[in-house]
Amino acid sequence: MRMIKWENGTVLTPDQTKLPLEEITLKLTTVDQMAKAIKTLQIRGAPLLGAAAAFAIALSAYNSKAQTTIEMLTALETTGTTIKEQRPTAVNLFWATDRVLNMARTYTGDVDGLRAAVIAEAQKIADEDAAQNYAIGKNGAALIEDGDTILTHCNAGELATVEYGTALGVIRAAWSQGKKIKVIADETRPLLQGARLTTFELKRDGIPVTLITDNMAGYVMSKGLVNKVIVGADRIVQDAVFNKIGTYSVAILAHEHGIPFYVAAPKSTFDLTCKAANVTIEERKPDEVTHVGCQQTAPDNINVMNPTFDATPLKYVTGIITETNIYTKEHFTKFNPTFPL
Ligand code: MRU
Repeated sequence: MRMIKWENGTVLTPDQTKLPLEEITLKLTTVDQMAKAIKTLQIRGAPLLGAAAAFAIALSAYNSKAQTTIEMLTALETTGTTIKEQRPTAVNLFWATDRVLNMARTYTGDVDGLRAAVIAEAQKIADEDAAQNYAIGKNGAALIEDGDTILTHCNAGELATVEYGTALGVIRAAWSQGKKIKVIADETRPLLQGARLTTFELKRDGIPVTLITDNMAGYVMSKGLVNKVIVGADRIVQDAVFNKIGTYSVAILAHEHGIPFYVAAPKSTFDLTCKAANVTIEERKPDEVTHVGCQQTAPDNINVMNPTFDATPLKYVTGIITETNIYTKEHFTKFNPTFPL
């Protein structure tokens, strides 16, 4: 199912903050609406953020009254800056924004042509993401054995992408091959993407899923209840994989228990220009930690940390499943020649 659609100047996408209790479709017609949807996590997940960023530029072009390509380009650049300010960690948002803007900067036709070209490029980014996820699923399914129980963290499913999902794409592909697998989903505090979204998707598809709180991951591994871990990624750099906060702890637990730890992500999530130390980790509002939903669970005015992502060093990663191939430890030396094998 398509998670983001362009229909004559309106972007249609589910409001992920309302799931699983309410299924509401957002109808976004302005850049400001798109920026807010990104900031508030109504739209979330690295590959979906990429498509959303591209469609934000498309909205800007669609709504522009510019008479010249220069004028329109100025508006598109402003939109790009606005969108990039919403969330700092998932690189797909930056990658997609730059891809559309780079196309626009070198466009040589008239203003109507530029408008059409921007919308077409955004649509292409969305279509490519969908195709890449099916390819990731196919490549990753080869790693999954009949009877496996796979632990996942956060939501790297179709809700986090344009279609099918990355980590959940692998699980879906293995399931569709007839492999009798089960999933353990970490609830993923503070915003519960695992409890709210991953279980929602898998239950709907009939794939057996068991929900645990994040602090139960060690227990289930120590009891031999997990064969593999598969997660998504927000940014893959020379020496680490950035993903939802708590992924690092899961990776260390998997390492300690000799459980393979895989990351599933498209190439658009790779940012091999930098190392973990150079990446900005989004810090979100304290009330996401002091509250569960609307219920306050901590005293007033308590000090809080709320980093949204963490970095898992590549030494804990068994493989990275992409649309073209699976990168293993030998390949990691190509990302980072000093990586200790
Ligand atoms: O804060 P979120 O919900 O956007 O974080 C999402 C994740 O961390 C996902 O695991 C990641 O984007 C991979 S999605 C295929």
